[in-house]
Amino acid sequence: MQCHPITGFLGAEISGLKISDKISEKQTSFLKNALSKYLVIVLPDQFLTAEQQRGLADVFGAPAINPYARGRGEYPEMTIIVKEVGDTTGVFGGGWHTDLSFLDLPPRGSILSAIEVPPYGGDTMYLSQQAAWSSLPKPLAQLLEGRKVSHVGKPYGVRWAPPVEEQSMKGSTTRNDPDADRERWHPAVLKHPITKKKGLYINPTYAHRIEGFDEDKSTTILQMIYDHCALPEHCLRLRWRNGMVVIWDNYFTQHYAINDYHGFRREMRRVAYQNFNSKGPIDFQT
Ligand SMILES: [Fe+2]
Repeated sequence: MQCHPITGFLGAEISGLKISDKISEKQTSFLKNALSKYLVIVLPDQFLTAEQQRGLADVFGAPAINPYARGRGEYPEMTIIVKEVGDTTGVFGGGWHTDLSFLDLPPRGSILSAIEVPPYGGDTMYLSQQAAWSSLPKPLAQLLEGRKVSHVGKPYGVRWAPPVEEQSMKGSTTRNDPDADRERWHPAVLKHPITKKKGLYINPTYAHRIEGFDEDKSTTILQMIYDHCALPEHCLRLRWRNGMVVIWDNYFTQHYAINDYHGFRREMRRVAYQNFNSKGPIDFQT
């Protein structure tokens, strides 16, 4: 088993590892170490069954049910993300975000398996919140460190919900939930429990307000930071192939699904996982 880094800051492709029904202890520790170090790990040519993908989630934590995109049938923790040939609306996850950061207990990470990908387009962008933090101009870093930021579930709520015609995966995600408008406060900066590297924990889809600042001032400051986060140096652009599996750390990265494949079908299967310690959900504080 080998890790091949993809960029200078995040992502590694794994070779020599085939996920099967039984994942060995050696494979488990290899995968965990690789994820801690690279934050996004790519396993080509896996073609996992739903059961195998569910088993892979067990390596990293307990599978987490997405309350806004609950899976049907046997696997409620499994979300099928589909864009059909004739679908010309936005895509699920189009815009920089970390999954469900507006929940009290956001998922720790996700595993995405490519079932059917378009011949070109449909890439996913990732960025390292650790790289963004370590190069953040000092005044902004000082402003954020030790502070909390509120998150709200804009696309799923009422107050900030996008118009129906802009909504992706219509009918398969829950919308207009007043509870998604409730502010949840999380630390602006987290420290990785294994590598001890610090990273930003804000994203433009869900972060709303910085503790001690009003909405307008928060928006101005946060936008400056988002521009910094999305610098090309902090990013990885992933090209999918059928059968590819990607695992990412949802606390130290953001991702963005690129919607440039109208006229083609794309189907992905996702499982998220939780792995909180006894102190609670997000206690990776500085
Ligand atoms: Fe996402």
